[in-house]
Amino acid sequence: MGSHSSDDFTAKWAEHDLGEVVVSAKEVRDRINELGKQITLDYAQRPPLLVCVLKGAINFMADLMRAIELPVEVDFMAVSSYGAATKTSGVVRIVKDLDVDLAQRDVLIVEDVVDSGLTLNYLRQYLGARNPKSLEVCALLLKVGEQRVEQSLKYVGFSIPADFVVGFGLDVNERYRNLDAIYTYTGDV
Ligand code: IMP
Ligand code: MG
Repeated sequence: MGSHSSDDFTAKWAEHDLGEVVVSAKEVRDRINELGKQITLDYAQRPPLLVCVLKGAINFMADLMRAIELPVEVDFMAVSSYGAATKTSGVVRIVKDLDVDLAQRDVLIVEDVVDSGLTLNYLRQYLGARNPKSLEVCALLLKVGEQRVEQSLKYVGFSIPADFVVGFGLDVNERYRNLDAIYTYTGDV
């Protein structure tokens, strides 16, 4: 269309605090399409309920649901680990709960990043107690070697180093969610 592709450059307003590209916009798009195809095959006989964990997974959820060729349903929950620091406290607060009943549903949790795994561990127990038929996880990013709780993740987009990253839904103090690629963050927290 004659305009810049968002793959080619980093937004001027953001570049000051961003380091290297960890996952490019194109890599994100391509991988999400692959995940969508795989989920379409795996869940062909039992369209899943996709549970988006706000806010970090919004970009991922929006693209993933459109890459799945099944009559999926979607719902949202919001959780917050205490504090605005770049490390989780492990104490999770439910800020917004689901609207739908999970009983006998095939539930797929859509998460942005698994770091220590404490948030996901809490969510699994919380949602698992509501008698879903199945409960699996689709995480866009997995930080290698950081998990303090054993995780079995059915779908992972990318395994990445343990650096703090922003973009494509991931924030620092609520900013940078609207970037199309994923970058290391070099600014102050
Ligand atoms: P965990 O409980 O340590 O696995 O952390 C999970 C949550 O912390 C994620 O859902 C994110 O909201 C946040 N988080 C962890 N690492 C990052 C990061 O590198 N950038 C932005 N948010 C992160
Ligand atoms: Mg977050």
